[in-house]
Amino acid sequence: MENVCGYATLKIEDKDVQLPIVVGTEGEKALDISGLRKNTGYVTLDPSFMNTAACYSQITYVDGEHGILRYRGIPIEELVKTESFVEVAYLLVHGQLPDLEQRKLFSSLLNVNSLLHEDMRHFFDHFPRGAHPMHILSTMINALAAFYPNVDTQSLSEDIDLSTARLISIVRTMAAFAYKKSIGEPVVYPRHDLTYCANFLNMMFDSSVAPYEIKPETVRLLNILFILHADHEQNCSTTAVRTIGSAQVNLYATISAGISALSGPLHGGANQEVVAMLRMIAEDGNIEKFIRRAKDKNDPFRLMGFGHRVYKTYDPRAVIIKKECHAFLKKAHINDPLLQVALAVEQAALNDEYFVERHLYPNVDFYTGILYRAMGIPENMFTVMFALARLPGWIAHWKEMLGGNTKIVRPRQIYVGKTPNKA
Ligand code: SDX
Repeated sequence: MENVCGYATLKIEDKDVQLPIVVGTEGEKALDISGLRKNTGYVTLDPSFMNTAACYSQITYVDGEHGILRYRGIPIEELVKTESFVEVAYLLVHGQLPDLEQRKLFSSLLNVNSLLHEDMRHFFDHFPRGAHPMHILSTMINALAAFYPNVDTQSLSEDIDLSTARLISIVRTMAAFAYKKSIGEPVVYPRHDLTYCANFLNMMFDSSVAPYEIKPETVRLLNILFILHADHEQNCSTTAVRTIGSAQVNLYATISAGISALSGPLHGGANQEVVAMLRMIAEDGNIEKFIRRAKDKNDPFRLMGFGHRVYKTYDPRAVIIKKECHAFLKKAHINDPLLQVALAVEQAALNDEYFVERHLYPNVDFYTGILYRAMGIPENMFTVMFALARLPGWIAHWKEMLGGNTKIVRPRQIYVGKTPNKA
C-alpha cells in the first residue's frame, strides 16, 4: 500500500479493525479508511471535511501552523522573486519550471490562443449592464465547450498544453472584455508583443483616446499577485473542480464550477468584501465598534480578510502582499485612507484575545484589494483577478485527478429523516 508507515487499531463492538497509517512527504499522517465500510459496515462523519484528506497530491504544500506555502516544493517567497506568472503556471501544471524551449512554446500557445472566438464576443452584448463579471466569466467559460468540443476527459485527448494555454489566455481576454463592456467602451484586443500581465493591463485600460502607459512596476506587481493566488491545495473551489471533474465533465465546464465556488464571500469573493468593509469602517470611524461586532455571535458581521481554515498563523501570501502594498503606494505617491484603516484593524484584532485565541490572522484577501485599487482595477473585478490567477492551480488538480485512478466523488451520509413507522 502507498505510503503506509504502520497501523492503528480501531475497536468496534467486539472487533479490532486495523487501519493503515499513511504519511506524506512532509510528515503529515492520516488514517486510510478506504476499506472501513466494507470491513465494518461503518462510515466516518466529518461535515465540511474539516478532518478529511480527499486525495494524495503532489502539487501544493500548505503548512497552516508555520505559514508555509510551496508550489511543487518551491516556496512562494522564491517564486515571486525569480519567476513570472506564466512560468509558475507551467510549474503547477507540469511539475517543473519550463526550460527555454518549453517556455517559448508555452508563450506562443498563450499568444495564438488569446483571441476570443468572434461569435463569443457578441455574447457580452446580451448580459445586463450591471452583471457581475464573475457571473459573466463562469457563463462564458462554460460556453467554450461549445466552441472547442474536442476537450474531452477520458484520455486528456486534446494536448494539455493547448487546453491550459487556451483557458489561461482566453479567460484573461474574456475578463478584460467583460470590464470594457461594463463601462461601455470598445474592447481592446490582445497584442502579440506584450507579456501575459502587460497584455491584460493593456486590454483593461488602453483606449483610442487615452493610450495606457504600461509601467514595469505595475506588471511586476501583477505577476506577484497572480503567482500568490495560483494554487492553494484542496480549497473550496479546487475541491469543486476535482469533484465535478471526477464525473468526467469537460475541462471548461469543470473550471466554470470552480469560478462559481470562488465567487462566494467566504472564499475568493472576500477580497471585494474586505474593501467594502474597510470603507464602512472608515466612514464610521469607530474601529473598536467593528471589532466588537466581529466577536458578537448575534451579529452576522465578520472581519472579512481575516481567519482561514488552514492557516492558524499569518497567511504567508498576506505577508508579501502587505509589504508590496506599502512599497507600491509609496512609490506611486498614493495615500489610500483604506490602507491606514486596514493597518489599524489588523493592529486592534491581533491585540484582542478573541482573535488571538482563535488564531485569526489576515489572509490573502486582506490587503489585496488595496493593491488592486492602487492599480486601477475596479472592485467588481477583484475576484475575477483571483480567478485568472487560480486557473493554473485548478487545471493542475484536474489533470492530477484525471491522471490518477480517481473514481467519481460520491460521499456517504447519515440519514436522520423520517422512517415508514415514524412518518
Ligand atoms: C480564501 O481554503 C483556502 O485555501 C482558501 C484560500 C485559497 O487560496 O483558496 O486561502 C482563499 O478563501 C481565504 C479566506 C477568505 N474569506 C474570508 O476572509 C472571510 C472571513 N473569514 C471567515 O469567514 C472564516 O475565517 C473562514 C471562512 C475563512 C474560515 O472559516 P472556518 O475555518 O470554518 O472557521 P470558523 O468559521 O469555524 O471559525 C472558527 C471561530 C468561530 O468562532 P467560535 O465559534 O469558535 O467562537 O473563529 C471565528 C468564528 O466565529 N471566526 C471569525 C472570523 N473567522 C472565524 N470571527 C470574526 N471574524 C472572522 N473573519
